[in-house]
Amino acid sequence: MSSGARSHTAPPSGDRPPMSLPRLAEMKASGEPIVMVTAYDYPSASVAEAAGVDMVLVGDSAAMVVLGYPGTEPVSMDEMIVLGKAVRRGLKTPLMVGDMPMGSYEASNELAVQNAQRLVKETGCQTVKLEAGGISVERARAIIRAGIPVMGHVGLTPQTATALGGYKAQGKTAKDAVKLFEDALALQAVGCFAIVIEAVPAAITDAIVSRLEVPTIGIGAGPSTSGQVLVFHDLLGITTGHMAKFVKRYANVHETMVEAVERYGDEVRSHHFPEPDHVYSVDPAELAQFRGYLDQESLTSAKAWEWEPLP
Ligand code: KIV
Repeated sequence: MSSGARSHTAPPSGDRPPMSLPRLAEMKASGEPIVMVTAYDYPSASVAEAAGVDMVLVGDSAAMVVLGYPGTEPVSMDEMIVLGKAVRRGLKTPLMVGDMPMGSYEASNELAVQNAQRLVKETGCQTVKLEAGGISVERARAIIRAGIPVMGHVGLTPQTATALGGYKAQGKTAKDAVKLFEDALALQAVGCFAIVIEAVPAAITDAIVSRLEVPTIGIGAGPSTSGQVLVFHDLLGITTGHMAKFVKRYANVHETMVEAVERYGDEVRSHHFPEPDHVYSVDPAELAQFRGYLDQESLTSAKAWEWEPLP
């Protein structure tokens, strides 16, 4: 590196201390950007670990990008727990956030605490995230009182996207921006350690985040937030089809995977795979003995079943 140049790459995993809530607060205070990505299984968690991200969200976006549901609404606690356990096995240093799926927290504080405890105990996530303001503020307060750190989420909240008029930017009128700001303030007041802001005009985000004390993580909310989050499958180009305006693709992994599987298929069909490097060898004497056995004229399938290895 030339003198004066500064590396923005995270140090290798072994050299990094595990991410903590005080460290996140420090990063916000010093203006050091917080990098967050979603992960849903062991390989994606291992990639996040190796790439040195600060926080990993086991997002309910898994419903769409991993499980193939049309929205996030159908994913269950049991499904989120299977995915979260796999993510835990691939992570050492990033702070792990478990997303609470729709139906796991809205009905009562008791339900919210029970399910937050399930996520922490069964997956090993250190914190949980729940969506929206309103009743979620009470639920966040109850979970935090039970000793589990909570991340809030305002703006476009996919679990309630229908009520918000669909998957579209939020806070575009002064009235909606006030509501968004009030939700964020309320989540901060009950003790959320950070707040995700999704699909909000950059100028509105900018005005809001300067009035918040907790770290904010943006997704489609412009550059002013303390950090950014993207969905793993979107940023790698594993997802196909329509992408939200805020997604930047850093690779085209879907195309790479299809090409590789096509090449494999072609090689199987044309007898070019497997090659000598991909097969096991056998001692020629053992092979000759086995062939001798197969060549016995009296061999029947019933006898083969009874055959004892030769001394
Ligand atoms: O589920 C998810 O992936 C999310 C992020 C988009 C913040 O909630």
